[in-house]
Amino acid sequence: MIKKTPSYAIRLFTIVSILLLLMSCTSSKKSDTLVIGLSLPTQRQERWVRDKETMEAYAAEKGVKVLVQISDEDARMQANQVENLLTQGIDVLVIAPHDSKAAATLVDQAHREGVKVISYDRLILECDVDLYLSFDNVEVGRIQGQYITKTVPQGDYVILSGAPTDNNAKLFKQGAMELIQPLIDNGAIKVVLEQAVDNWEPKNSLRLMEQALTKANNKIDAVLAPNDGTAGGAIEALATQGLAGKVPITGQDAQVDAAIRIVKGTQSMTVFKDTRKLGKAAVDAAILMAKGEFPDTKGKTVNNGKFDVKSQLLTPVEVTKENIDEVLIESGYLKKEEVYRK
Ligand code: BGC
Repeated sequence: MIKKTPSYAIRLFTIVSILLLLMSCTSSKKSDTLVIGLSLPTQRQERWVRDKETMEAYAAEKGVKVLVQISDEDARMQANQVENLLTQGIDVLVIAPHDSKAAATLVDQAHREGVKVISYDRLILECDVDLYLSFDNVEVGRIQGQYITKTVPQGDYVILSGAPTDNNAKLFKQGAMELIQPLIDNGAIKVVLEQAVDNWEPKNSLRLMEQALTKANNKIDAVLAPNDGTAGGAIEALATQGLAGKVPITGQDAQVDAAIRIVKGTQSMTVFKDTRKLGKAAVDAAILMAKGEFPDTKGKTVNNGKFDVKSQLLTPVEVTKENIDEVLIESGYLKKEEVYRK
């Protein structure tokens, strides 16, 4: 015989299910915990791992939740991931774009959902991004340019720059060329090779350095490498020719492997950008912005091709063998035993 009315158990189950469904709908966004969506371009370079770790740890300290997505140097993937973050109901989006131009649409999308956007480390161009948090990136390039032109005021140079998709790469080069270009113009410096390193990949800078060495019959006097990763690739090529340690070369990021090379003498310098400070500044700003407030940027702005974006730029620091202990080890950024390991 078929029962016409559902049993008590089935009715109870249905009511409880409906209640649970209603509760989950209302709690996904309206819980009291503030949620930051964090979209990072990569974890391939050590610095981005540190940015992520700092933000996660500091957010936890502040009682804030962070949803992290890593786009592995792929603009399409970053777009999908940001869309996904937005559907999860984030309060603020912190994004370091893989592609500084393509990410503009992601800012628009977030704004349509009422979510404010912080452009992290890399500036998102031609859009209404709410805040830019980074280092003085032109100054990073100046530090590199100053170091290399002081060490090698004349001779044959290889000039490498970062990924063309990254606005920072342009700024680093601009700063470095302020020092290098006048010496090219007066004939003191000859450029053997000047190339961008696609995707910041060490294997691409290795290949470019090999080409330069072949072209110049190994007569290279100095290398401008935009970061530690690309310096590492170039140094590998120099090492194959027995030239590692003989050709001054720059870097940036204070990665452990670069610090080890600096101590050993195969890399001349790096530029330290304290990602711990940047990560914390981003979380603090996000918390304020989620409450409808805004951090004090002291009138500082950077133009992104559309308007002057309110900005906070931290100061980069030159690191050589002379000050590595003081700047990187005493500050707790790197551990003595990893830098001085045999
Ligand atoms: C960052 C550098 C980093 C590079 C490659 C740049 O935008 O500012 O610190 O080395 O990207 O990831």
